[in-house]
Amino acid sequence: MPGFSRTLLALAAVGFALFGAGCRSAGVASGKESQLRADQADRDGHSRSRPWEIRSTHLELELELDFEARKLRGRVIHHLRREPGCPKDAAFACDLRALEIRGAWAGREGDLRAATQRIVPGTDFGDGLEVALEPGDDRVAIDFETTAAGTGLQWLEPAQTAGRKAPFLFSQSQAIHARTWFPCQDSPGVRASYEARVRCPEGLEVVMSAEKLPAADGWQRFRLERPIPSYLIAIAAGRLASAEIGPRSRVWAEPEQLDLAASEFVDTEKMIQTIEGLYGPYRWGRYDILVLPPSFPFGGMENPLLTFATPTILAGDRSLVALIAHELAHSWSGNLVTNATWRDFWLNEGFTVYVEQRVMEALFGPERAGMEIMLAMRSLKEEMAELEPRDQILHVDLDGRDPDAGFTGVPYDKGAAFLRRLEQAVGRERFDRFLRGWFDGHAFRSVSTADFVEYLERELPEAADAVDLALWIEGPGLPEDAPIPVSRAFETIDRKAADFVAGSIEAGAIAAGAWTTQEWLRFISSLGDRLPRERMVALDRAFGLNARRNSEISCAWLELAVRSHYEAAWPRLEEFLCEQGRRKFLKPLYKALAEDPELIALGRRIYARARPGYHAISTGTIDEIIGRP
Ligand code: BES
Ligand code: ZN
Repeated sequence: MPGFSRTLLALAAVGFALFGAGCRSAGVASGKESQLRADQADRDGHSRSRPWEIRSTHLELELELDFEARKLRGRVIHHLRREPGCPKDAAFACDLRALEIRGAWAGREGDLRAATQRIVPGTDFGDGLEVALEPGDDRVAIDFETTAAGTGLQWLEPAQTAGRKAPFLFSQSQAIHARTWFPCQDSPGVRASYEARVRCPEGLEVVMSAEKLPAADGWQRFRLERPIPSYLIAIAAGRLASAEIGPRSRVWAEPEQLDLAASEFVDTEKMIQTIEGLYGPYRWGRYDILVLPPSFPFGGMENPLLTFATPTILAGDRSLVALIAHELAHSWSGNLVTNATWRDFWLNEGFTVYVEQRVMEALFGPERAGMEIMLAMRSLKEEMAELEPRDQILHVDLDGRDPDAGFTGVPYDKGAAFLRRLEQAVGRERFDRFLRGWFDGHAFRSVSTADFVEYLERELPEAADAVDLALWIEGPGLPEDAPIPVSRAFETIDRKAADFVAGSIEAGAIAAGAWTTQEWLRFISSLGDRLPRERMVALDRAFGLNARRNSEISCAWLELAVRSHYEAAWPRLEEFLCEQGRRKFLKPLYKALAEDPELIALGRRIYARARPGYHAISTGTIDEIIGRP
């Protein structure tokens, strides 16, 4: 471990001296140093920007939404800052993919001239755009238009919305999709404030991850003064209404879903206050939630001031609100203190899952929180068994790969387990103070894994000594000292499940009447991979599982049904796969279908029907699993 720490510390030291990106302030750098910066081990390999030379610090966006052409036409003005040691003739370098460039200008505020621009062909992940500058220039303006190949925006037909009355548009920028809807320095180590004005058809409400200002001259206007990375810039437009759910929170949704959403999220203010009590003030002003149409490919997305959420968490009984705790927690871990590159993604997600679990414990008690942790840890172990060793590592190597490849349970649940292990080593009180210091000391900055290790070794040496950091951070697998809670209720459920599978009890003998969603999920996951038809019939008869409307339960039940060839579930399976497009639910179901020679045709038929409604992020994954129809 000491060797490991030294390596990481050495890296951190190099980073401090040479790397202008993120939080680090570099001194005056020579030409040799800027060369070294480019060779830096923890520079962002997923961006063609050179923020260590010229960095964008503020964006002015002007966006016109054309629903008929499914195009966004816009202009972005980047405010520029030259970093120390920036070569005199440096160009402004940023990222783009699947965008058409209509023109570029450079100069000083209010005095722009046409500028030479060129596209530097890159990889599948995007190209570079370089705009030539003259000394003293501090503005670059770029006119652009999105294309159908872009993945950052989804344009929906009215039929794909709850009300079926108006079209809808939403963005999903994380990880590297922002570059497909405006040219930007698309790296989480680059932070900028932004303002935007948006024009769209009459009657549509636009919302963004920013403060909404009064409209003027037919433009809906926004501003965010705090600096954020590009992956947090977000927009949605549709037939939206809002309802207050707390002193600083409202929920936005289509009118048809507003009441349900407002009652589902009543605990939002309590959640905010819980995290504030642990880790310091909420620093973003408002915290609102937008409920998206069902094709939203994720559960949630922590866009600042405005969490984007899938409607599949509207269970009616608040049983899936851990997702809100999660996205809210990102207001500290992720949005305030941000992973410097996608290799460091576990700093965003592992910390956030840890905080989410603390919120669930504070609001709903240790029993419920413990159940959620146990469910997550079981899924993690199952998933890990199928991952290559290199993808089981927290500080994952994403060289040459889409950062999406790092989207597994590892950064999330192994990351959170690591923090629980550190907490266990020094006790809650000290660990809470440590985390609060981490958030305060790095607020509005981007940080790397090495930064964290350095901070941990300095501020919490006992934990750094007690825990094998190298094993946890750079090693595959789940270390044996991962703390996993125990739940009496789950032990009972496991026994019932085993007895039912063995045929020693009947469904009627399972007292499931008062089970929570989490207990149901544990029960289904304890039934094994497949059940004989007769057992499936018995379960379905006793508990009406095909008729359940809780999305998590449906997903778990339907996967078991596919693996068990339980044909009575096919109508519900098809309905579930066509009514929502959340990748987490699509993936296991299409995988189970694709792996079964007798069912792959059914899977293909359903996919052909459902695919046009899915988001590009979901089709990207499912095409690989079952083939593009
Ligand atoms: N920031 C993530 C979503 C994300 C990560 C999108 C990487 C694109 C690339 C968000 O906070 C998240 O983790 N969502 C989870 C839900 C959560 C409760 C685990 C999801 O959508 O499944
Ligand atoms: Zn997250």
